[in-house]
Amino acid sequence: MFRHVSLQSSFAARSIARNAGCRRLASTKTLKETLQEVIPPKQEQLKRLKAEHGHTVVGDVKVENIIGGMRGLKAMLWEASVLDPIEGIRFHGLSIPDCQKLLPSSPGGKEMTAESMLWLLMTGKVPTPEQSKQLSDELVERGELPTFVEKFLDSLPKTLHPMSQLSMGVAALNHDSAFQAAYERGIKKPDYWTYTLEDCLNLVAKLPALAARIYRNIYHSDKSIAPTDRNLDLVGNYSNKLGFGDNQAMTEYLRLYIALHGDHEGGNASAHTAHLVGSTLADPYLSYAAGLNALAGPLHGLANQEVLRWQMAMQKEIGDTITHDNIKEYLWKTLKGGQVVPGYGHGVLRNPDPRFVALLEFAKSRPELQASPTIQLVQQTAEVAPDVLKEHGKTKNPYPNVDAASGCVLYHYGLTEFKYYTVIFGVSRALGAVTQLVWARALGLPIERPKSYSMDALEKLIKN
Ligand SMILES: CC(C)(COP(=O)(O)OP(=O)(O)OC[C@H]1O[C@@H](n2cnc3c(N)ncnc32)[C@H](O)[C@@H]1OP(=O)(O)O)[C@@H](O)C(=O)NCCC(=O)NCCS
Repeated sequence: MFRHVSLQSSFAARSIARNAGCRRLASTKTLKETLQEVIPPKQEQLKRLKAEHGHTVVGDVKVENIIGGMRGLKAMLWEASVLDPIEGIRFHGLSIPDCQKLLPSSPGGKEMTAESMLWLLMTGKVPTPEQSKQLSDELVERGELPTFVEKFLDSLPKTLHPMSQLSMGVAALNHDSAFQAAYERGIKKPDYWTYTLEDCLNLVAKLPALAARIYRNIYHSDKSIAPTDRNLDLVGNYSNKLGFGDNQAMTEYLRLYIALHGDHEGGNASAHTAHLVGSTLADPYLSYAAGLNALAGPLHGLANQEVLRWQMAMQKEIGDTITHDNIKEYLWKTLKGGQVVPGYGHGVLRNPDPRFVALLEFAKSRPELQASPTIQLVQQTAEVAPDVLKEHGKTKNPYPNVDAASGCVLYHYGLTEFKYYTVIFGVSRALGAVTQLVWARALGLPIERPKSYSMDALEKLIKN
C-alpha cells in the first residue's frame, strides 16, 4: 500500500516537474522533508506490529541455519530492498529494469544517478528530476574533505590496500560527526534520526573525494585531482576526480554500477555489519567503516578484484584462441586446484544475477566494448561456467553474480588497477547502508543481540 501510493504520487510529481521545465518549484520537498512525511506512518506500522503480533511465529530455526552462517534465517528488518532467489533484487518493489526506466538520470546522460537511487531507497518514492538534482546540489555542497583527512590519506603507504585506506578514511570522518556531538549533548531518542541523516548525507557526499584521492595517491600521484564541479552529479564528480571525466561512456557505466550495487537486502555481510555496528549507536562513519571491512573479504566485495585477476590469468594461459573448450579446461583447473570460481555462486540467488545481466547489456550496447577481448572472455565464461559448476556439484547457484561482469568494463576503459575495484563498490554500498542507519534510528530499533548456542547446548536441546 505504502509503495503503491507513494509511487503514484511520485509519478504525478514527475509530470508536474516536466511541465514546469524542471525549474526549482517552491513546493519541491527536500529529502529530509520527504522523510519527515514518510517516517510517521512507518513508525505507526512498527508499533502495531509489535503490539499486535509480537508473539506471532513467522518461521522456524533449524540446526543447519545455526551452523550455516544463519543462511536462510529470516531475522532482520530491512525496508529498502528485497532479494528474491529467482528474480533478484527489487528496490522498494522496483526491479532493475523498472529503476532504469523510472529513476532520473543526469543531464545529458541515460543511466540513473546515485542520488535518485538514494532517494528511492530512503523514501520509497521515485524522485522527480528536480528532487534528484536538488539532492545532487546538496551533496556537492557537503562534498569537501576535511584537510586533516586529506593529509592523513596522503601519508599512507601506496602499498596499503585501497580498501584499508577507504575504511580508515571513513572512520576518520567521524571527527565531525553530528550524531556523536548531539548524543554527547544529550538529545532525545526521536531526534536521533535527523542527526544520523546529517552524517549520512555528509558521508555519501564525501565518499567520491575520499575514494578518488586514494586512487590518485596510489596510482597517479604525479597528477593533481580535479576540483569539484558544481554542475555535476555525485558520480560525474567521482569520475572526474578519478581522471575519467572526459570519458562519457565510463562515467555512465560508473553511474549504473554505483546505483545497481547500492543495496542488496540487509543480510549481506557489508550491509549487515554496518547495521549491527549502527545498532550500538556508533555514528554512521564508524558503522560504515566496519561495513567496508566486511566488503573487503574475497567472498564478498573483493570478488570483483578476484574475477579480473582470474580472467586475466585465464586469458594469458589460453592466448588469443578463445573457445568454450579451453575456458572449460581452465575452469576445471581452478576447481581441481581447490579454489572457488570468482564471480559465480551466491548466498541467496539461484539464477543469473540481474545486476550481471544489466552490466552485460551495457557492454553489449557499445561496439567498442563488444570488441574487447576481456569482455568477450567474460561473456563466454558465463556461457560455459554454469554447466561446469553443475557437474562439479557443490555450488548451490552455478550462475554468474554481479562481480563476474563488474570489472571488465572498468578495465576496458583504462581503470586497470583491479585492487581498486572494491573501493567503487564501497562508494556504492553506502547508499543502502546509510538508508538503513537512518531508518533504524527513525524506528528506534534496538541494539542487535542474537542468542548463540554451543554445540553441547545444541545436542542437549536436540535430545530433549
Ligand atoms: C558467494 C559465495 C561466498 C556464497 O557462498 P555459499 O552460500 O556458502 O555457497 P554454496 O552454499 O553454494 O556453497 C556450497 C559449496 O559450494 C562451493 N562453492 C560455492 N560457490 C563456488 C564457486 N563459485 N566456485 C567453486 N565452489 C563454489 C562452496 O565453497 C561450498 O563448498 P564447501 O561445501 O566445500 O565449503 C560462494 O558462492 C563463493 O565463494 N563464490 C565465489 C566468490 C564470489 O563470487 N563472491 C561474490 C558474491 S556476490
